[in-house]
Amino acid sequence: MGEVVALPVPEPGPEERPVLVLDCGGQYAQLIARRVRECRVYSELVPHSISAAEARTRNPRALVLSGGPASVYAAGAPRVDPGLFSLGVPTLGICYGMQLMAQELGGAVERTGVSEFGKTEVRAEAESELFAGLPVEQTGWMSHRDSVTAPPAGARVTAGSPAAPIAAFEDSERRLYGIQFHPEVVHTPHGQEVLKNFLYAVADAPPTWTAAAVIEEQVERIRAQVGSERVLCALSGGVDSAVAALLVHKAVGDQLVCVFVDHGLLRKDEAAQVVETFEGHFHVPLVHVEAQERFLSRLDGVADPEAKRKAVGEEFIRVFEEESQRMQAGARAKPGRPRSGAAQSAPSGAARFLVQGTLYSDVIESGGDASVAATIKSHHNVGGLPEDMEMELVEPLRLLFKDEVRRVGEELGLPERMVWRQPFPGPGLAIRIIGEVTRERLEILREADAILQEEIRRAGLYRELWQSFAVLPAIRSVGVQGDERTYGYPIVVRAVTSDDAMTADWARLPYDLLETISSRIVNEVPAVNRVVLDVTSKPPSTIEWE
Ligand code: XMP
Repeated sequence: MGEVVALPVPEPGPEERPVLVLDCGGQYAQLIARRVRECRVYSELVPHSISAAEARTRNPRALVLSGGPASVYAAGAPRVDPGLFSLGVPTLGICYGMQLMAQELGGAVERTGVSEFGKTEVRAEAESELFAGLPVEQTGWMSHRDSVTAPPAGARVTAGSPAAPIAAFEDSERRLYGIQFHPEVVHTPHGQEVLKNFLYAVADAPPTWTAAAVIEEQVERIRAQVGSERVLCALSGGVDSAVAALLVHKAVGDQLVCVFVDHGLLRKDEAAQVVETFEGHFHVPLVHVEAQERFLSRLDGVADPEAKRKAVGEEFIRVFEEESQRMQAGARAKPGRPRSGAAQSAPSGAARFLVQGTLYSDVIESGGDASVAATIKSHHNVGGLPEDMEMELVEPLRLLFKDEVRRVGEELGLPERMVWRQPFPGPGLAIRIIGEVTRERLEILREADAILQEEIRRAGLYRELWQSFAVLPAIRSVGVQGDERTYGYPIVVRAVTSDDAMTADWARLPYDLLETISSRIVNEVPAVNRVVLDVTSKPPSTIEWE
């Protein structure tokens, strides 16, 4: 008998060994998942109600119980399956999560009458696993009314604060850890290191979840899903659809056809940039539909903001549908032959799959599980896609947060301008021209906006601002230019900072920059004789003017 040689066992991909973050309420859970991923360990959000058996099937590296606004004693407070603590999987409870652990595992949680909110001085034991290598005295961001008053049986206390003598505990044997303050928030200066200690040292999770690894993994998945079928993708000019398209192209090459509907409402040079990037640089088969005239005539006489949105959205769907039907028909008539017409280079072929740039935040928002099969949703990244298209979805960004999409885009070689493009509404400039959209007014706004963008970039502020753009109101005002009185258009400068567009503050742009923007716009755009600044936050205003 020969010697038995063990075959090498392939290393599991990072996504096969996730860190599962149990969502116990509030905004904390999502932030924890992002922080874990920043440590290059793949993590997913799951409901707190996940059973121990279900969790085990995911083969997790670790579990994290998030914070949450409830009291563990409140009726209906989120609970977790106590079986989770016997899985032998390293588990970290944060704030409410810690209190749940204490309650379930033989400790005690009480309302001591002393609450802690905000920055708090914490004394941590240097010998503890969570705080190894960190200063003994450190600041932790707290937000709690209840406190753990006895740690779980077998756990030792590893940190304390004036109001919470048990601010952290650990049971190295059972690999159960609790922390009262929030390591995920920026106000806890050593928080990320605490997470790293937990992930790398306790849970033995390697930092392998990188943009390159994401690309490799997704390329494999897309190939497995798509096989030799054709795939269709609508490009919008935004980062999500661009990265999704490039991933699919990397996976299945020319089986992908991108459709770029140029509705004529993009900013200056944007359409050319999409064509140059995809067709010129990446050699992605692209149908460039020049539908500017169609959209303009559809918008003729439409002044109401919602009516404009509807007009653009419906027209977009119509054009996209026509193009895809033409391709499907072309495929039946002459397989593999490019069609002429609006298309510049269009390999035809019936497409069975449709690419969609759904992000992980969309998945979370719709209460979905990242592993659940997708259906077409009514909110999407492109101007709106037909609801009844009989195509299967390919969603290569379904596991990614926006900043991760950008990193993947950079890794794929997408130009900086596209990777870091500020959010731009689907109806485009149509909702930044107050009232009726005409060719003349589009041209004025596009030129003024281009100057504004150029100066914001030159000042190094483009990435700092959530959005910065020009608006053309439906009024005229008197000016004097040279020896003449003019009756021209004003341009509004709108620049905001924001994290999520739900609220926003007007950006305090430097006066010198505003001066340059103003004088360049009135000098270079003949129809404009006045530039004004929008100094309203959201609420009460919205970011867009329409
Ligand atoms: P508001 O103006 O409501 O905008 O403060 C919040 C964010 O949404 C964007 N926005 C849109 N995006 N279609 C889109 O795709 C739209 O009709 C639309 N309207 C507003 C806006 O640019 C901002 O980022």
